[in-house]
Amino acid sequence: MCGIVGYIGTKKACPILLAGLTRLEYRGYDSAGISTIEKDCIKIVKDKGRVKELENKKEIKDLQGTVGIAHTRWATHGKPSKENAHPHKDNSNTFSVVHNGIIENYYDLRNLLEENGYKFYSETDTEVIPNLIHYYYKKELAINNEHTVQTFLRVVRNACLDIKGSYALEIISKDFPEYMIVVRKDSPLVIGTCKDEKYISSDIPAILSYTRDFYFLNDLEFAVLKNDDIKFYDTNLNQIDKKISNIEWDAMSSEKNGYEDFMLKEIYEQPTAIRETIGSRISVDNKCEFEELPLTKKELENIDKIYIIACGTAMHAGLAGKNVIEKLCRIPTEVDIASEFRYRDPIINNRTLSIFISQSGETADTIAALKLAKKSGSKTIAISNVIGSSITREADYSIYTHAGPEIAVASTKAYTSQVILVNMLAIYFAEILEKSNKEEIRNLKKEILELPKKIGETFNCAERIKQFAKKIYQEKDVFFLGRGIDETVAKEGSLKLKEISYIHSESYPAGELKHGPIALIESGITVIGILTDKLLVDKTVNNIQEVITRGARTLIITNQNVNYSMFDEVIIIPKVNTFLSPILSIIPLQLLAYYISKEKGLDVDKPRNLAKSVTVE
Ligand code: AGP
Ligand code: GLU
Repeated sequence: MCGIVGYIGTKKACPILLAGLTRLEYRGYDSAGISTIEKDCIKIVKDKGRVKELENKKEIKDLQGTVGIAHTRWATHGKPSKENAHPHKDNSNTFSVVHNGIIENYYDLRNLLEENGYKFYSETDTEVIPNLIHYYYKKELAINNEHTVQTFLRVVRNACLDIKGSYALEIISKDFPEYMIVVRKDSPLVIGTCKDEKYISSDIPAILSYTRDFYFLNDLEFAVLKNDDIKFYDTNLNQIDKKISNIEWDAMSSEKNGYEDFMLKEIYEQPTAIRETIGSRISVDNKCEFEELPLTKKELENIDKIYIIACGTAMHAGLAGKNVIEKLCRIPTEVDIASEFRYRDPIINNRTLSIFISQSGETADTIAALKLAKKSGSKTIAISNVIGSSITREADYSIYTHAGPEIAVASTKAYTSQVILVNMLAIYFAEILEKSNKEEIRNLKKEILELPKKIGETFNCAERIKQFAKKIYQEKDVFFLGRGIDETVAKEGSLKLKEISYIHSESYPAGELKHGPIALIESGITVIGILTDKLLVDKTVNNIQEVITRGARTLIITNQNVNYSMFDEVIIIPKVNTFLSPILSIIPLQLLAYYISKEKGLDVDKPRNLAKSVTVE
């Protein structure tokens, strides 16, 4: 959660930091703040509220320094308020810190510091950090009054060794005004570099307009930055080398490009995003290629179980992919929510293959589940959209969706690209294992290649969905029903609606309704049915008939021949292989959530209480 930005260079830091915060605001938006160093003195401007409000503050104009750190908060400890907003400084005003994450032992550290005379002015866990750094600094100075940047590094490192939890930190100090130290553990942070300037950010798109050259830190690696220099250190403070990665993303792809909201832009980007995901991995007559995944037939034959582990929408993409893996590869596949998987003592060994899906690659629960699987002997594959993200550095193999930056909190194009990637992975495994029917695979490949065009056709429903949204935006409860793969889409459609329209919704396997939830159906309630699975469509129609009898208003998303006159609204999507149908049937549901949110006048891209990447457990 939360976004951090840093700048150290030759220009005034404040405008660069504000621009970065604006781009990162999707990560957290309850308060914001900036700190710069001027004339060997720390200046901080911060407050509750959005970045725009910070930008409009009178004092912000006074920040003249060329070294600065900034933060947009997603509160974990202490309500959103000026006092709790970052940056936080130590009692002597020597160090200023922004932090993304949670300090789990902050209570003990706070007690220790209070016993040593430190006072606290906020309710945050973060405020212990600058004070702990100062605590070690004072000790160092008592022994040796040397003021080199090594002292700064050493005291930051000592503080980090005491801290338990997750953090990405930027630290500046009035005693070392030309430097900034950054470090991360289980929270994201990237460093962009150009000749006389260094940029730090929680993610790549926020600083992509300044540089394409990035460094990625591993856990507990420290970077000591000057405008024209970077040095990297491990936990023992041995200097280490790091490779620069050149990022090919287009800076424009993280702008709105004339769309009213990022979410709408990202919905409409799906044909392009999917083309990128497919890339050259699939062609009808050749074997599917994943050069980043050099698994042999023998290795795959050794696998007797696959886990797909993820959270939220990424987990729904896993559910949509389970059937295709089982069908083509005949390997039992289980899909798990990362935060549940971790704590249920799962059966994992060296015959298990674990696939982790995460758009951001920074989701704390998914990363922790990956570490657990790896420790238990499983081979691990990360599917992510963000190059160099934490999960890709932990996994044995990493595959990128290449969907381009996804900024809106509600995931859309990442989902469809994940579904397609899991389908391609199933084909790849099946071809290596020589298990599947060649004609079946050939047809699936053909259909994958036709998907971008079919998504384009599916957008034709937009106007009718918009009109339907106008009818139901004041509803209190909505139900989503489906069977088989359609039920996985029901889950995702329901999540989208909850997230951005704040309407309570439930998704159910259509046949399960009569075992309880049907008691909630009353006259006028909206029920949305997804009917694309030919084998199950008649059964689902029967279930929807049951709610119509009880007065429900119905919207149906289908590509099957059903009796349309039964339903209030029917959206016809193109015919497609059932394994791929979520990629089309989710589109009307993404649009529905979007238009309801707009109709209610809500902030579509930054829904309340949510953050784009959930870096806390
Ligand atoms: C999606 O709309 C949600 N905002 C959320 O469920 C998200 O998919 C989940 O937090 C996982 O994120 P990740 O893909 O970055 O790991
Ligand atoms: N735990 C810190 C706080 O509540 C940081 C939260 C964040 O990552 O925004 O202030």
